[in-house]
Amino acid sequence: MKSEQLFESAKRHLIGGGGAGGRYHPLLKHPVYLTRGKGSRFWDVDGKEYIDFFTGSGANFLGHDHPAITAAIRQALEVGVICNGETEYHARLADLIAEAVPCAEKTRFANSGTEATLGAIRIARAFTGKPKILKFEGHFHGMHEFLWWNCSAGVGTLRDDGTVAPLADSDGMPAALADLVVVVPFNDILAFEKAVTAHQGELAAVIVEPISYNQGCIPAQVEFLRQVRATCTRLGLVLIFDEVLSGFRMCRGGAQEYFGVTPDRCTLAKALGGGVPIAAVCGKTDVMSVLNPVGHTIMSGTYTGHLIAVMGAIACQTELAKPGFYGRLNGLADRLYAGIAEALRVTGVPGIVQGIGARFGLYLGVTEPVTNYRQAVRTNREMEVKFILGCVRRGLYLHDYGHTMHHGFSSQHTDADIDQSLHIIEDALRELKTE
Ligand SMILES: Cc1ncc(COP(=O)(O)O)c(C=O)c1O
Repeated sequence: MKSEQLFESAKRHLIGGGGAGGRYHPLLKHPVYLTRGKGSRFWDVDGKEYIDFFTGSGANFLGHDHPAITAAIRQALEVGVICNGETEYHARLADLIAEAVPCAEKTRFANSGTEATLGAIRIARAFTGKPKILKFEGHFHGMHEFLWWNCSAGVGTLRDDGTVAPLADSDGMPAALADLVVVVPFNDILAFEKAVTAHQGELAAVIVEPISYNQGCIPAQVEFLRQVRATCTRLGLVLIFDEVLSGFRMCRGGAQEYFGVTPDRCTLAKALGGGVPIAAVCGKTDVMSVLNPVGHTIMSGTYTGHLIAVMGAIACQTELAKPGFYGRLNGLADRLYAGIAEALRVTGVPGIVQGIGARFGLYLGVTEPVTNYRQAVRTNREMEVKFILGCVRRGLYLHDYGHTMHHGFSSQHTDADIDQSLHIIEDALRELKTE
């Protein structure tokens, strides 16, 4: 097997045989080494073909090698590898974002979701002069020290002030920074109000994944989101929607359009560019005006808004704006999630599927709707492991994050791909009953 040989040789100079830790598949015990991606599929070095239900952690929203994105990248190369230089295309992309995303009066680019949330909270601290950020248990906002708490580290202790004791998601997180984060259970408005009261005068912002896709697919309850919005407005807290995954996923305006609740700021990445490395912090003009050169808050970088990424993202956004794009995508979503629910029913495997737009969670061993992280972690890990391996063996690539499963598809997936995937899913579920 070439994969195994490549794993051995890659390990010589790459930790774990991969350029990024997240690409390691803990169940396969190596990363999948790719040779090519096209449409809804990719191929590994052993020539095995997979339907892609990983989609580059949601970034390959338009599938692999989308002709419009590939052409735009070629065009960018002809302009020149413009690094740290401004062009007409940067403003064009910001216009497209403003047209689609309700809160995006102003945009500042970044290279990754992690960088975008880091910038977003710096802006909030500058705007309010306050140090603390409130986040929700189970929500992921990237890998920096200010927010990488209580995402996958397990369930923390509930405290009398409505908060959850901070748990670091990685080694190397300074304990002192736990004092700057206020963690609250998701969809629990009483806990939220208590926590806000307990930390009043110190909070700069509330950051939320309006759909907690990193725990499968846990939408905010709309009343909860509305009340969070109202409380932030009343107390002068900056409300940030982290839409790195939810942005553009089910409609052009992302979760803020879907729920009809507009934050002060949002972070975007992934489906913003359809696979090119780009992210953004967007927001209302007043909050964003703290950024340099208008204000004195710095957020910039050598590779920020690299032309290749900007032009790829313009192509992606132009595709999303085409009539019928979301009708087709959401039609596939409905068929897929109804099909998975039916597969659970006919095989008798306990589980529940929750999906919105092109991303979903499948909670095996859980039969009640999942509304927060505490419920999401009650899944049956043994079943998940067998199920993921059963699908991967049959040519449906599901990534393993070592905790709650979350998957998705792209706009290049077809009805036939969905049918084939549903067959594989049903077979893999049936195997759980027979073993
Ligand atoms: C909601 C959310 N925020 C932030 C990030 C971090 O983005 P990146 O991996 O581009 O740093 C992710 C990544 O999955 C995410 O899902």
